[in-house]
Amino acid sequence: MKLTIRRHQNDQNYDETFDIASLKVTTLLSALYEIKAKLDATLTFDAECRSGVCGACAVRVNGRETLACSYRVADGDRIEALAYHPVLRDLRVDKSQAQATLERILPRGETLEAASLVTPEEEARFRIQSDCILCDSCYSVCPVFAVEEGFAGPFALSRALRYAEDPRLGEDSKGSILQKIQEKGIWDCTLCGECTAVCPQGLDPKGDIMQLRSASLRAGYSDPTFAAQSFGGGDFGGGFGFDPNAGF
Ligand code: SF4
Ligand code: SF4
Ligand code: FES
Repeated sequence: MKLTIRRHQNDQNYDETFDIASLKVTTLLSALYEIKAKLDATLTFDAECRSGVCGACAVRVNGRETLACSYRVADGDRIEALAYHPVLRDLRVDKSQAQATLERILPRGETLEAASLVTPEEEARFRIQSDCILCDSCYSVCPVFAVEEGFAGPFALSRALRYAEDPRLGEDSKGSILQKIQEKGIWDCTLCGECTAVCPQGLDPKGDIMQLRSASLRAGYSDPTFAAQSFGGGDFGGGFGFDPNAGF
């Protein structure tokens, strides 16, 4: 059985194939540990819990994001670091840019109003967003995060919905969250759904972004790209590129 790993060492990028037939491996993470112990001690990757809880071991396998500790390795697999993250060494990436998006959006120094207790139904509504393990897979697959500096991105927007729905947070704080996601946030998303497709925790950032768009419209915000379009004047001409008075 062979495994190819995209290496990044001393500013050099190259593919290296390891024959792991003689190693005892099950998951991809166990293969990485075995390679490091028996074939190449310089191989660098991140992992902590080894059980799908911490999110540290996310990589791309054959171009798709996955948790190395949850993936059963197969012959011919090609392993790469997450995309759109600076690679520090081999499979280890710098997640600070993606994680900083949370800092920008989330309420800081707020106290939850304990008097307003959360009902089980309300808690169930936002429990799923709290299951995010910050693996960054959704940022690795997001076409907007790839090109737009400062884009809030999937997990930060899912977390924004989680707080926007929390009845213990004051209306001012909720309003502040909605205000913070208008620029480089919900309207910049293409709704491609890739973030939802790769999430190992079953979060639905695309669906959450759609809910935040609805909440924003109810709060009086509008889609800036839609507002920027011209739909013509009273004669129904102009913006559609069709002038009914021009004759045929
Ligand atoms: S749905 Fe939006 S946030 Fe999710 S990957 Fe696509 S562009 Fe990014
Ligand atoms: S939303 Fe899902 S894919 Fe994105 S960081 Fe959280 S757990 Fe990972
Ligand atoms: S090592 Fe923690 S999720 Fe894989």
